[in-house]
Amino acid sequence: MPTCNIGILVSGRGSNMLAIIRAIERKRIKGARVAVVISDKREAKALDSAMRHGVDAVWLDPAEAASRLDYDMRLLDVLKDKGVTPKDGLVLLAGFMRLLSPEFVEAFGGRILNIHPSLLPSFPGLRAQEQALEREVKVSGCTVHFVVPEVDSGPIVLQRAVKVEEGDTPETLSARILRQEHLIYPIAVRLFVEGRLKIEGRKVLIRGK
Ligand code: GAR
Repeated sequence: MPTCNIGILVSGRGSNMLAIIRAIERKRIKGARVAVVISDKREAKALDSAMRHGVDAVWLDPAEAASRLDYDMRLLDVLKDKGVTPKDGLVLLAGFMRLLSPEFVEAFGGRILNIHPSLLPSFPGLRAQEQALEREVKVSGCTVHFVVPEVDSGPIVLQRAVKVEEGDTPETLSARILRQEHLIYPIAVRLFVEGRLKIEGRKVLIRGK
């Protein structure tokens, strides 16, 4: 099986990124390597963590780009340069807080995954955990999905439910959801790398389950 080169896009802490790097280090995901981590924020903690694990880390400054499309084409160049190609690479969004242009998403069609801290289609966009608390739901959770041009709406790969407890704050709920994110994102990546995910319209078929 050829190695799948993975590019991870981040903006901050990078705990999901670390969960994936560790899953590869511990051979829970085989046949893949993280070729590069790219952040739009210079101060992102994820950049240091990636380097500590021997992964190339790149800060790509949005201020240097003429437009969203220009930024995304620069992203594409860095990814390709590191061997993450639209043909056989994989792009993971892990707390990447920029919207991607349709051109970028189409270039990598079906090869971009995102993790979101709610049970989509509930609570897309920002502050998903706060939205869940404001709506007084009893259960929330997290979702790994393929990325399409529309925000947080691509075909769903995996979800985990998390009970909302009486007295939860955005912080306590986020922390419990995050623990589940760290479990399901590496599983989804493993399934992708093993070629077991097939998109059929809105549905993701998981082979061999
Ligand atoms: C995670 O909770 C992730 O689900 C969320 O940002 C956090 C990043 O944490 N992503 C979104 O809200 C995307 N819409 P991390 O940097 O520690 O992985």
